[in-house]
Amino acid sequence: MPVSLDGLPYDILFFVTSYLSFEDILSLGDSHPKFKALLLESTLCRRTIETHVEHTKDAQSARDYNQKLEPTSPRKKMRRCQKEEIAYIEAMKNIHDKRIAFQSCLPYSARVLGHGNGFCYRRGSLCILKGSTLRILDTSHPSQSMEIDLTATVETFRGASTSAADFDISLMYYSDDIAAILYEKKARPNESCIYAISTKKALPSNKRLLLEKWLETSYKFFCRHTAKWLYYGTYSAMGSNGRHHEWEIQGVSLTGNDSPAKTPKIVLEGFFGADIGSTVAFEIRDGFFYAVSNQTSFEVEEIDWTSFYHIIRFPLENPRRDNTDINKRLYRRQHAEGPIHDSWTELTIQFDDATGQARIVESRREWVRSTSEQKRTFYIADFNFDPSSASDSDEASEPVRALPDNDLFTTVLDDRNKPSWAPEQQRLNPTFHTEFAPDCRAPIFTLSRTKLKAYNLSTSSFLDLVEDEHCCNETTTGSCMRIRVGSRRTAPLDWVPPCDKYDKYTPSKSPKEYLGSRRDVVYRHSPIRMWPPPATQCACSRRLHKILNPPLPNDSPMSYNRHVVGSVDEHGLVYMIRSGRPSSEENQLGVIVMVSFTRGRSSSSVERPPLGPAAAASAAGEECCQHQRQIDDEGDDDDEEYDPDYWRWKPGVHRTGVCH
Ligand SMILES: *[C@@H]1O[C@H](CO)[C@@H](O)[C@H](O)[C@H]1NC(C)=O
Ligand SMILES: *[C@@H]1O[C@H](CO)[C@@H](O)[C@H](O)[C@H]1NC(C)=O
Ligand SMILES: *[C@@H]1O[C@H](CO)[C@@H](O)[C@H](O)[C@H]1NC(C)=O
Ligand SMILES: *[C@@H]1O[C@H](CO)[C@@H](O)[C@H](O)[C@H]1NC(C)=O
Repeated sequence: MPVSLDGLPYDILFFVTSYLSFEDILSLGDSHPKFKALLLESTLCRRTIETHVEHTKDAQSARDYNQKLEPTSPRKKMRRCQKEEIAYIEAMKNIHDKRIAFQSCLPYSARVLGHGNGFCYRRGSLCILKGSTLRILDTSHPSQSMEIDLTATVETFRGASTSAADFDISLMYYSDDIAAILYEKKARPNESCIYAISTKKALPSNKRLLLEKWLETSYKFFCRHTAKWLYYGTYSAMGSNGRHHEWEIQGVSLTGNDSPAKTPKIVLEGFFGADIGSTVAFEIRDGFFYAVSNQTSFEVEEIDWTSFYHIIRFPLENPRRDNTDINKRLYRRQHAEGPIHDSWTELTIQFDDATGQARIVESRREWVRSTSEQKRTFYIADFNFDPSSASDSDEASEPVRALPDNDLFTTVLDDRNKPSWAPEQQRLNPTFHTEFAPDCRAPIFTLSRTKLKAYNLSTSSFLDLVEDEHCCNETTTGSCMRIRVGSRRTAPLDWVPPCDKYDKYTPSKSPKEYLGSRRDVVYRHSPIRMWPPPATQCACSRRLHKILNPPLPNDSPMSYNRHVVGSVDEHGLVYMIRSGRPSSEENQLGVIVMVSFTRGRSSSSVERPPLGPAAAASAAGEECCQHQRQIDDEGDDDDEEYDPDYWRWKPGVHRTGVCH
């Protein structure tokens, strides 16, 4: 007798869910009221959070919240359980909503945040530097911000707001309620200083300065910090052969009182590449410093076969040589895969939501196997220090390098060549995500029109901020800023791909047949979506276009040369537009815009209808009209004033069709 899923006893269903992914558990909940009840059960929610999204900010807040609820009496204990339940259920819903909004390219809100000289956006918190004032915003309550006047904390900064100042201050990093600010005397790179400023609420100005450290140089300066340690680096050490620079890293304790504890200087020897974000990347997380480079030699070898990543990890507390992990031969690619279009390369380190494990995410645009076809692919590799993962044994222990068999070029090598070779490694689907599904052709944007490129591991999505010339005819610049998102999800086992050119398996085969005994995964790509819809579509969309393309500061005429910097996480996207060329003036004033995938406070009680991949595409148009003039009587909304710089999705409104 066939047993349907909803006929199973609860305990068995509970057990079944331990084999499902985060998304599947929630989809199951949406499929039947009985499963919905199952889902909103706190033990399951808690377990789901702990196994799948333990390392997200939402999970952390739920946990922190629960830790605060220490039971003191049996009666309170009961109340605590209820609250705990709510915290986990909320966290689970938040994460799910954000992911769906991100993957479907349907933000919940957009806002012009004002002007600034620089900003840093991390894990939902935003810090803006304008002149010598810091503004701190929690992106879930962006209307409440806190301002800190730096001149009251750091004497050196007096005069920063006057244009005659002979120094620059730049915001380098923001995390754990601490902002790292770099001071540089103009044209004197040897007179620079790094400051760590606490941005905690209600702290007197004279208690804010946590660190003041003068630097020998600020060449290629970067910094990353936690609440306890600040690590900074410059590209300034002299390499062993005296011909090129190397990265020099230094950690400083932020908790030491008068004389801050310092780590010894660390020189990343033989770690090549000077451009953060394309050839090297640095990150700090959970007590470790991580570094990755896309190259293993300083010079380009004329004859070479294989490229490796060079990765390094050491603990912040004790960065000694003997507890530093290094792998110089983490397989990257074969040069035969085709030349790379360098300007598109983006190299980042990201962390897995479930395990916290570091991953390398590199986006490369390649001429496939040296044909004229260009393809952008997001490659994902584990930070793997396991010696067996190195593509072969270390150079030192093996002076004779491995070379390919049956390759003519091996015969022309001499002592000056230092080629690398390792056998080609099979790529499994989870380790690369192509921009388009194999049979899909969608308009692409040129590099100069692609202002921002990001990939988010937790949602398996890429997000580009593009300047679209074909969206609207009315804007003064002739092009509109729009978001472009593509994502992929694990395909159901009985899914048949709608294409005939699938590289990896023949079309008649379902993933079930393809996978067989392989340990691979089959994905299906969503169509690439753009947001917002053209301004002609409705009044709300017109308004959104004004928010996404705000006037630039200082009345600079809307220039065709807009320079954009920005950053993305699962909560949203923040970008700053300046006029002119990237190099013209580093700290020039720009206008800052935030697009958020997080539900606002008051719309959280209403469900946005779940979106299937197909529904979302058409919904994008309809969505645009769903946000004006809230008529539902949600008390706290009514006093909200019309603000031309702020748009927010609201449920139920499309029924009236009223737009401003
Ligand atoms: C920085 O360099 C300038 C000349 O290049 C020199 O006059 C000055 O003393 C140096 N300052 C420090 C702090 O080393
Ligand atoms: C590393 O990336 C840079 C910038 O994209 C590129 O020029 C360089 O060739 C890459 N190195 C290797 C070994 O591919
Ligand atoms: C822009 O104008 C052209 C002709 O001037 C028209 O064909 C096109 O449909 C318009 N596009 C939009 C989005 O309004
Ligand atoms: C991707 O999402 C994670 C999880 O929230 C976030 O921490 C991270 O910053 C995001 N990364 C990028 C590059 O957007």
